[in-house]
Amino acid sequence: MAVGESRPVTVPDFLAARQQGRRLTMLTAYDATMARLFDAAGVDSLLVGDSLGMVVQGQPDTLSVTLEEMIYHTRLVVRGAKRALVIADMPFLSYQLSPTQALENAGRLLKEAGAHAVKLEGGLRSVAAVEAITRADIPLVGHIGLTPQSVRRLGGYKVQRDESRLLEEAQALEQAGAFALVLECVPAALAARLTQTLSIPTIGIGAGAGCDGQVLVGHDLLGLIDDLRPRFVKRYAELGEAIRQAVRSYCAEVKAGTFPGPEHVFS
Ligand code: KIV
Repeated sequence: MAVGESRPVTVPDFLAARQQGRRLTMLTAYDATMARLFDAAGVDSLLVGDSLGMVVQGQPDTLSVTLEEMIYHTRLVVRGAKRALVIADMPFLSYQLSPTQALENAGRLLKEAGAHAVKLEGGLRSVAAVEAITRADIPLVGHIGLTPQSVRRLGGYKVQRDESRLLEEAQALEQAGAFALVLECVPAALAARLTQTLSIPTIGIGAGAGCDGQVLVGHDLLGLIDDLRPRFVKRYAELGEAIRQAVRSYCAEVKAGTFPGPEHVFS
C-alpha cells in the first residue's frame, strides 16, 4: 500500500514508510490550485517552503519572508490539499530568538494556518527550538546541509560536505524530537550514510537516491523557472514555454478579432 493511499497522510505514516522501506514524495506548493493538483496526483506531502520568497515573490533569497506570509500561504495550501501532509516552513528569525518564540510561532502555523507540521533549518543551533516545539506535540521536520537562510554566512548556495558535523547535527535533531530530516545539497554517499544512522526518514534535495524520500520545488519540476537551474532539479514538464505560447496565441487572437468567437458570447 502507498503511504496513506486514500486517507490523509499522517506523521506516523512517515515513520512507518521508513521502517517498511517505502519512499516518500514531497513537493513545495504555495497556493490552493497547485496544492489541489499535486495532491490529486498523489504526492505524500506538501511543503509550504519559504522558497516562496524567491519562487512567488521574486526576491533574491528567502530572508525577507515573514511569518504572516507563511501563515497566509499555508492556509491556501491546506485548503487545496485533501490527502497530503502539509508542512509549513518557519521563516528566518521566527524561531532563532528563543525557544519560547519558536514554540509560539510554530503554534501559530498550526492554529491559524492549519499546518500539520512545521520545518525549520539548522543543526545544533536549532536544537533548543526543536525541543520546545516537539515537547508541545507539534510535529517538526529538521533541515540540514545547505540551509538557504544561512546564505550570507555560507557565501552562496554550496554543497555541504562536513561529515562529522552533519552526523552530529542529524543525530541531535532526531534526539530533540524531529520526525523527519531534509538533507539539502549533500553528496549522495554521505546522505546515504546519514540516512543509515537515523531511525527517522530523510528527505533529500540534491542529496541522491539513498534518502528515504525526495523533495523538489514544484515550480522547478514543472519547468516554470528559467533563470535558476540547479543540477539536482529534473524538469518533468516545460510549462513555462506552454504558458508563453498560450499567452502569445491569446494576444494574437484578440488583436486579430478572432477571440471571442461566436461560442464565447451570449446572444
Ligand atoms: O523552502 C523550501 O522550498 C525548502 C525545500 C527546498 C526543502 O526548504
